[in-house]
Amino acid sequence: MKIAGRPHTTIWPTPAGVEIIDQTRLPHRFETVEIADLEAAARAISHMQVRGAPLIGVTAAYGLAFGLSADPSDAGLAAAKARLRATRPTAVNLRWALERVGARVAPLPAEERFAAARAEAALIAQEDVALCEAIGEHGLALVREAATRKGGGRVNVLTHCNAGWLATVDWGTATAPIYKAHDAGIDVHVYVDETRPRNQGASLTAFELGEHGVPHTLVVDNAGGHLMQHGEIDLVLVGTDRTTASGDVCNKIGTYLKALAAFDNDVPFYVCAPSPSIDFSMSDGVAQIPIELRAEEEVTHICGLGDDGELARVRLSPKGTKALNPAFDVTPARLVTGLVTERGVIAANARAIAATFRR
Ligand code: MRU
Repeated sequence: MKIAGRPHTTIWPTPAGVEIIDQTRLPHRFETVEIADLEAAARAISHMQVRGAPLIGVTAAYGLAFGLSADPSDAGLAAAKARLRATRPTAVNLRWALERVGARVAPLPAEERFAAARAEAALIAQEDVALCEAIGEHGLALVREAATRKGGGRVNVLTHCNAGWLATVDWGTATAPIYKAHDAGIDVHVYVDETRPRNQGASLTAFELGEHGVPHTLVVDNAGGHLMQHGEIDLVLVGTDRTTASGDVCNKIGTYLKALAAFDNDVPFYVCAPSPSIDFSMSDGVAQIPIELRAEEEVTHICGLGDDGELARVRLSPKGTKALNPAFDVTPARLVTGLVTERGVIAANARAIAATFRR
């Protein structure tokens, strides 16, 4: 998608490695960082310079390749996978990408592993763009339907966190249908949840929608239910970090509450789910999906741009206040209207998922 009118992706190859947009600096600073070794890739994922399930997967794939350039032995491969896997526990794309690259290189002689891993990482990145674009096409039909229901009136979409192009290589998952609709001339407007504590909505979704010219309004996380009660939301579109084989959806903390409110107000609640974010080994999201617990400081403190133009971090709560910071929650399948996958819009249940992906 576009930044300052020019097409961009979130990660791109350089002669030495890859370059990423440092998402901890957005929206106030646009800075890129080059990553050329395993440790830098692992740190970029843990510190959330890159984040969002698909982009975490792509970065991990490149990180594994860089690890193999330093040590292409079986022990090196195992150690690099373990290091990257330990960075963030919830998004299954991380494990998926590591297993895919690992399986590609394991049968090869050591001297061929780095090049093969790097090529596989590039392929994963390229495929991610295609998956997201396909999700955009299938989701576009949902936005069109909503526009028709409203007699061509403005379609209001609510989204949570950033499941935008910054969370993927390009297009995004939840935002792909929005970009497609906007580009097709449909009057689409997005309510952007700020998404405490890290404010991916306020800082990233608002940034990327603004750069692409999509009309949007930032709302506090608690506003969604109220807006739905007053007919202000036609469609909820969110992403996913891990969807079980039974259709339970794990996504950014607060997604579950939006799904409950949508269910109570008959608002369609769709999850945009590329197949690498489906965990076919799990069937009970609440019981089985590991939920990342992040630092208390993300809750007790907040970062922003001061009036002096400098980035600042300030405390919100009294000194010493304890905070709990689960980063994700699980929305049970029964609250999900449908999954927008690269193969079409399907029901969030075991039968539809298995039939679509032939498992
Ligand atoms: O903690 P984050 O910023 O990595 O969480 C991101 C999300 O929860 C996204 O909604 C999810 O990864 C889907 S991204 C297409």
